[in-house]
Amino acid sequence: MKLKNEIKEIRNNEYGIDNIFLNRWSPRAMSGEKLPKNELMALFEAAKWAPSASNNQPWRFVYAQRDTEQWEKLFNSLNEGNREWCEKAGALVVILSRSNMEYKNKPNPTASFDTGSAWISLALEGAKRGLVVHGMAGFDYTKAASTVNAGKIFKVEAMCAIGKRAPKNSLPENLQKKEMPSKRKKLSEIAFEGKLPK
Ligand SMILES: Cc1cc2nc3c(=O)[nH]c(=O)nc-3n(C[C@H](O)[C@H](O)[C@H](O)COP(=O)(O)O)c2cc1C
Repeated sequence: MKLKNEIKEIRNNEYGIDNIFLNRWSPRAMSGEKLPKNELMALFEAAKWAPSASNNQPWRFVYAQRDTEQWEKLFNSLNEGNREWCEKAGALVVILSRSNMEYKNKPNPTASFDTGSAWISLALEGAKRGLVVHGMAGFDYTKAASTVNAGKIFKVEAMCAIGKRAPKNSLPENLQKKEMPSKRKKLSEIAFEGKLPK
């Protein structure tokens, strides 16, 4: 995969990795079009192949296509800042994890960790397809949980907005300023031999 022009001047890597990792970012400008179901399903398909402890596959994805009753409800659970740009999303997705293992219903200590793996697979597949996949924690977790029937066993981890990309100037001015790939900490700040530094 080629490094996208929009990424080139902002992101670089220290150790020659696949460009998919650099090309993925979280734009907000979306076209307001619906997503074809097979495109959406392909993202969940990518997520499904993530690794998990004992192959428990604790991740669940509940999606709502725009112009549906569930979409309205999930949209209304978002905070104001997220509503501003999510109104042009094609789909809203609630990402949940099953807190207990299916076998004997014992607590699963890695449910959130495993679900995070699945989320990034979904996001990378979306980036490869040129879609916006934008994670969100800015929403009312209680409202979202009841909208999707999470009950007691499923924990809402996050939401994401998925949509077709649109030009930056389609966003309100305050968001246009933020519409760019972000940078990262240096490797020396996150990876350590032996022990964490004091
Ligand atoms: C779990 C999670 C929650 C996030 N919550 C929000 C949010 O509520 N609103 C928002 O605009 N962006 C949100 N983001 C996007 C992050 O700010 C973004 O991923 C981060 O700044 C890194 O930028 P990048 O994804 O473009 O590389 C969230 C991302 C994740 C993974």
